[in-house]
Amino acid sequence: MDMHDLDFLYSCLAIAERGRGTTGINPLVGAVLVRDGKIIAEGWHEEYGGPHAEPMLLTKFTSKIWPTDRLFVNIEPCCHQGKTPPCTDILIKKGVKKVVFGMFDPNPLVRGKGVAALRKAGVEVIGPIASELCRRRNRGFVSIMEQGRPWITLKKAQTIMGKIANDDGSRLCMTSPVQNEWSHTYLRSRLDAILVGVQTIVTDNPQLNTRFVQEKNREVKNPLRIVLDTKLSIPLSATVVSDSTPEKTLIVTTVRSGKTFDELTERGVKVLVLPEVSIPKLCQALITPQGDFNGISSILVEGGPKTWDAFKEAGAVDEEMVLVGSEVSCN
Ligand SMILES: NC(=O)c1ccc[n+]([C@@H]2O[C@H](COP(=O)([O-])OP(=O)(O)OC[C@H]3O[C@@H](n4cnc5c(N)ncnc54)[C@H](OP(=O)(O)O)[C@@H]3O)[C@@H](O)[C@H]2O)c1
Repeated sequence: MDMHDLDFLYSCLAIAERGRGTTGINPLVGAVLVRDGKIIAEGWHEEYGGPHAEPMLLTKFTSKIWPTDRLFVNIEPCCHQGKTPPCTDILIKKGVKKVVFGMFDPNPLVRGKGVAALRKAGVEVIGPIASELCRRRNRGFVSIMEQGRPWITLKKAQTIMGKIANDDGSRLCMTSPVQNEWSHTYLRSRLDAILVGVQTIVTDNPQLNTRFVQEKNREVKNPLRIVLDTKLSIPLSATVVSDSTPEKTLIVTTVRSGKTFDELTERGVKVLVLPEVSIPKLCQALITPQGDFNGISSILVEGGPKTWDAFKEAGAVDEEMVLVGSEVSCN
């Protein structure tokens, strides 16, 4: 492995992030073509059902591939006919002779077969060169493949004494600007959706966006906002259903008609009707693409306590983050 190989892989991962929010239950994939130590072409998986990163790169790069060119990609190239043709066939046909990849495909039906197909065709394949890092960045996709549900991170903020709200249940702010920046940068913007129970909407009226991300050179998207609301009691004045991006909110309910239902759908809010708002049913629905919904592979559960408990009781928690702060004024 060349000493700069990891840098090229980081570039793949950064490019892959462009697909967040549109690739749905598919992995985030980025690819770069390297010649004489420089990136000369790039591609990424942009949209669920759309071209994969490697064909996108090779379609845009119309010059001849040199035998010394190296193609980097964060996940093993696929070798099966899905919604698009096998990437391995395209790489072989285009004359790519060297491939470096970050992680094996976690799908047991595919794992290792992409690498084998390339090697059989005489392509030199190196990898996986950063399995843990690449699996972490694609933890949503890996979780769907290995656990059959989205990756779930629980996040709570509390004071050093363990308080999560004022005694009367009203909103208590306790995280510092640095903590807000951290959680928006490393949690909210790296997961597909932020989820809360309807009581948190009623008491806190949160925005649930990524406004505190400070990273330069990265286009940051707002995740989908999911609200569990069995009786569809969400106030129509709540920010998540009345700001400029109602289509970024999904209300999960059992109510399939009525005044609030009509008003929300007219505004463009997404409403998912389930027979019951249980965590297993929700997880199954979220990984099932339907119509223009491409699915969700990772969720940040921000509360409140009833909602955290529901995920814990369902055994659907992969990691838990607790931000400990002290009481501050709410902005
Ligand atoms: N410090 C923090 O990090 C933090 C974060 C968020 C909230 N909070 C605080 O937490 C408090 C609100 O928490 P909360 O526990 O009362 O309510 P919550 O978890 O925000 O919302 C609970 C409600 O969600 C609905 N829901 C639907 N499906 C559910 C399911 N499967 N499991 C659980 N709930 C489901 C239920 O209402 P229906 O039956 O009507 O559907 C339930 O009463 C507020 O004081 C807020 O300020 C603190």
